[in-house]
Formats: sequence, structure tokens, C-alpha cells
Amino acid sequence: MIRLKVEWERPNCADGLYTVHAPGCLVAGLRWADDAGPLPDWTAFAFVPIDPSGRGVFRYTGGRAVPREATHVSVRAVGPDMTTAEETLIPLTLRRPAPPVEGGVRLGFITDLHLAGKPWQVGRALALAGTGGGVLCAGDMVNDGTPEQFALLWQLIETRLGRDTPMLAVAGNHDFPVQPDAGEGFYALQDRLLDRAERQGLAVERDESGAWAVRLGDVDIIGLNAARPGRKLAFRREGQLPWLDRHLTDTPAAWHVVLCHAPLLAHNPQRRQTNDMPYFSRDGQLQRILEGHRNILFLSGHTHISVNCPTGCVETDQERSILYVNGGSVRTTTLKPEEPLRPKEWTEGNMLWLELAPGQAEITAVSLASGRRIARGYYRFGREETEWD
Ligand SMILES: [Fe+2]
Repeated sequence: MIRLKVEWERPNCADGLYTVHAPGCLVAGLRWADDAGPLPDWTAFAFVPIDPSGRGVFRYTGGRAVPREATHVSVRAVGPDMTTAEETLIPLTLRRPAPPVEGGVRLGFITDLHLAGKPWQVGRALALAGTGGGVLCAGDMVNDGTPEQFALLWQLIETRLGRDTPMLAVAGNHDFPVQPDAGEGFYALQDRLLDRAERQGLAVERDESGAWAVRLGDVDIIGLNAARPGRKLAFRREGQLPWLDRHLTDTPAAWHVVLCHAPLLAHNPQRRQTNDMPYFSRDGQLQRILEGHRNILFLSGHTHISVNCPTGCVETDQERSILYVNGGSVRTTTLKPEEPLRPKEWTEGNMLWLELAPGQAEITAVSLASGRRIARGYYRFGREETEWD
């Protein structure tokens, strides 16, 4: 007889201590479920080794949300011969959340495409992300910054995205060749993407510093280019950060979405700070500017760390309503720290859905291989939330 005890540790999220009792079993998988069984389009959120006494413990951290449709947790425990399994459904002791606010903006976020030759994975990521109201990319679109790679990328953008679907992108270090005096392909691509957005009727602001902003409904999308020729992580020209400060002050919006290739040191997905070098120059200045404003979604890539990592891929500054999101990668990702039991799906390429409405943000990572939503890549932020029962 399988049992599960959950001690919730924080309100409004799935964090807590999950203790499984499954005598005679080797491992238990935990998935969100309803009364009919596991939710089929969500990945498992834990695989728990069971000790000889029949007990296994999983501490869920990182502030992920419980899917709206979940009413139960499914526990599936497998015996030592790996062929026998027992499954049970445990009702959740959390109140169900209210439905999302209508009329928000839904954007697909992809990062670290590293397009070189085989375009399958990048094509799939673009096609999926393009089913929303726009595609955002945090850089490393190509692997070596060559004209051939940018030509292939443009071909994919034109064939995989609808004519009316905007795509907005900033530079990553891999969007430039190693030689400092070669390869301006990224800037040509950025101009083409911004021209395309203008033809789609969107308001585009281009600053001479290289930063830009595009309006999508209530949402203000901002691009910062913190990578430059020579494959360096640094702001290419002076002026992007003062422009950002002015722009945030002058531009009312439900959300300001800031695209920047590398994460800020204080919110990097490895959560290490002491003695660490920032990823790019002017890290502290950018952090201070952001903290002077409200309602910001800071989107980065670069690390290729899996959204399944125990510490999570989203950090929230509740007081200022700032969310720091690291998007994993369209390519294979790394789980840090490693966990003893993990499915391959946890380190395959992913994209993220961003659903943004005034005062509300919902972030859902999706596996590109299976199309399933990643339970450990799901976050909600906003005024309504689950409550303690
Ligand atoms: Fe990358």
C-alpha cells in the first residue's frame, strides 16, 4: 500500500517535503494528476529512491506552481525487478486557484538555438513558439556567427513563422565569430527583424546605443545587446543602460520584458554569488536600474542549465514585481546539481510560454521533444493564488 505525505513549506507553490511510503519498492515517480490519473501532457516532477525500510523523501524547492487542473498527486512505485509497479492517487490539500485573467498576451520564448547545420530542432522551436502572439529570443541564435548560418536562420524564420508573427531577438556571444573584426551578421538580422515588426504595424523604438523597444499590446519588449564582436559578453556601445533607465521611467506598461543574453549574477540559475564573476560588464549597474522600476520580466539564456534544476529557473522579487527567468536552451541542457534519478526529458531542449496580463504572469516550459509541459518549469505570479486549506 503506497502512501504519500506532503508538508507544504511555502504558500502559493509546490515547495515542500514529499514523503513516500512504498514498502518493497525501489523508486517512486511523482506527477500531478486529477481523479482520473496523471495529467498526460505534464512531465513528472520527481523520481524518489525508496530505501530498504520502504521510505523515500523528496524536498521540492524553487517556487514552482501546481498546475491549475491538478487535484491529486500520482505516485507510481516500481519494484526491484523493474517490471511490477503500483500506482495510487493522493488528493491535494491545496485549494484550487482561480482561472487566469482573460485578454493577456501569450509569447513564446526561445534561447540558445546554436544553429549550425541541422535545422530540425530550431525549426521545431520556431514553429511551436510562433503559435503565440510573438517569439522572443535571448541570443546564441547561431553557433559561429557566419553569414551561412544567419542565412539559414532567416530562411527558417520566413518558413516557420506566420507573416503576422513578430520575432524579436538580442545578441548572444555565439552570434559573433571568434575574430573580433569579423561578422556583423547579427546586426543585419536584428535590423531585418525590427523592420519586419514595423511592417506588421508594431511601434518600434531603436536607440543609437543598439538597444531597442517594441510594443505588443500592454507589454513593452526591450532588447539589450550585451554581447559583441569577438564573442565577448559586454555592452557593445555606451548608452544602452542610461537609455533603459529613461525608457522604463517614460513608458507605462503592464509588463516590461527585458531580453538580455546572460543572466545577472544575483539571479543566475546556479545561485552561486560569492567570489563569482558577473557574466557581463556593467552587471551591477543593470541590476540597480531594474530595481528602480516595477513589473519587469528579465529574460536570459546563455547557461544551458535545465529548467528542471532544483533551484528553479525563475526568481521572483515580490516587492518590486520583478521576475528573473533563465530559459534553458533549445539544445540539450545540464541538470545542476545532478540528481540520482532523472528522465532524459529533463535535459532535452525546451521553450517557454509567457502569459502576461496586468498583475499576472504565468510561465510554462515545454519539452521540444515530447511537446509536454515541464512540471518543474511552471510558475505563476499574481494577485490570485492557491491558499492553505
Ligand atoms: Fe549558448
